[in-house]
Amino acid sequence: MTPLKIAIFASGSGSNFQAIADRTADGSLPVSVELLVCDKPAAKVVERAAQAGIPSFVFSPKDYATREAYETVILEQLREHGVELVVLAGYMRLVSSMLVQAYAGRMLNIHPSLLPSFPGLNAVRQALNHGVKVTGVTVHFVDEGLDTGQIIAQRAVEVRDDDSEESLSERIHAIEYELYPYAIRLAADKLRR
Ligand code: GAR
Repeated sequence: MTPLKIAIFASGSGSNFQAIADRTADGSLPVSVELLVCDKPAAKVVERAAQAGIPSFVFSPKDYATREAYETVILEQLREHGVELVVLAGYMRLVSSMLVQAYAGRMLNIHPSLLPSFPGLNAVRQALNHGVKVTGVTVHFVDEGLDTGQIIAQRAVEVRDDDSEESLSERIHAIEYELYPYAIRLAADKLRR
């Protein structure tokens, strides 16, 4: 069976991109990363994709009149590369309903909190500011709301009394590198059935 074709969307460092690409390269995650979509030309993830030999579509939103305009190009790219599942991994933009509907039930996101707590930006800081003792990681399907789609997998991370945003983010990231490949595999198996 040919592996499911995925695209990863990212805006920053792309350490989740790397974790997923590494798992596909060593055969432990049976999907194929066909494309990186990145909205920040200077982001480190662009280098990571080049290193891994994965094609990328890199754009600057300011070069387009509207979100629909650049998403139309993204959609063309996804179709050209035969992408069957879209994986948002630190893509710091809202996706329009046009793109969500084109990939309904076939678009995942990872978020650094136990949703529905702390949706949106700076989830780790939100958790620290709130004083929760446990936070975590959520992988969910993307719908038209902000981090509201159906939850696929979650893992808890304990908050320590002396945690900074940096130390807590580091432990959350370590969990993400395990949880995202697991959830992608679940979603891919379901789509293949
Ligand atoms: C990850 O922690 C991810 O959960 C978060 O951005 C980080 C990206 O790190 N996503 C969100 O906050 C989405 N709202 P990475 O670029 O090193 O993979």
